Amino acid sequence: MSEAKRRAAEKAMDHVEDGMVVGVGTGSTVAYFIDALGRDPHRIRGAVSSSEQSTQRLRAHGIEVLDLNTAGPLPLYVDGADECDPLKRLIKGGGAALTREKIIAQASLRFVCIIDPAKQVDVLGRFPLPVEVVPMARSLVAREIVALTGGQPVWREGVVTDNGNWILDVHGLRITDPPAVEAALNQVVGVVSVGLFARRPADVVIVGGDVPKVL
Ligand code: A5P
Repeated sequence: MSEAKRRAAEKAMDHVEDGMVVGVGTGSTVAYFIDALGRDPHRIRGAVSSSEQSTQRLRAHGIEVLDLNTAGPLPLYVDGADECDPLKRLIKGGGAALTREKIIAQASLRFVCIIDPAKQVDVLGRFPLPVEVVPMARSLVAREIVALTGGQPVWREGVVTDNGNWILDVHGLRITDPPAVEAALNQVVGVVSVGLFARRPADVVIVGGDVPKVL
């Protein structure tokens, strides 16, 4: 699978232009993209990073990491996903970086999503949906999620996000109306963000394979 991820990441370099500030996501697919950027670290002006993990890798390559407040709006955001449907709507957050990923996606003109073929689905929800919650609201939010979706929230115990929060992974969903589920869960008090990218889907999806497919 990692070869497919690497090919998708390499293909995303087609979207990188000289002097750009690039939004950079999190995960094993994005790690290949950061390594590709690192072959010529001064070609771009810098990167806005979605996690401490990606920040470390960017800096190790000599790429400057910039603050979104001064750098944004961004021309390009490149990130992976846990699931992708035919309308380029995504589940993200397997790496617990969903909130910063969502912020950067929203602040970017073009979101290029890089995935391996196993991430493509007809209906989102087989991958448990990550929801970032304020720690004291964990049980409250879990009860609300059951009532609203019928899914089973499971606390990702031991994981603390870069924002100091916790993650609930919602199992057993079949998300036939992603914008509605995203909107409903966003309304729950104590929810920081929902790993459903329906309101702001990807613009371009690159599926790694022998010959990468660009959707
Ligand atoms: C990180 O929080 C996620 O949104 C990742 O984008 C997602 O989990 C994909 O990760 P891989 O590239 O490691 O499969």
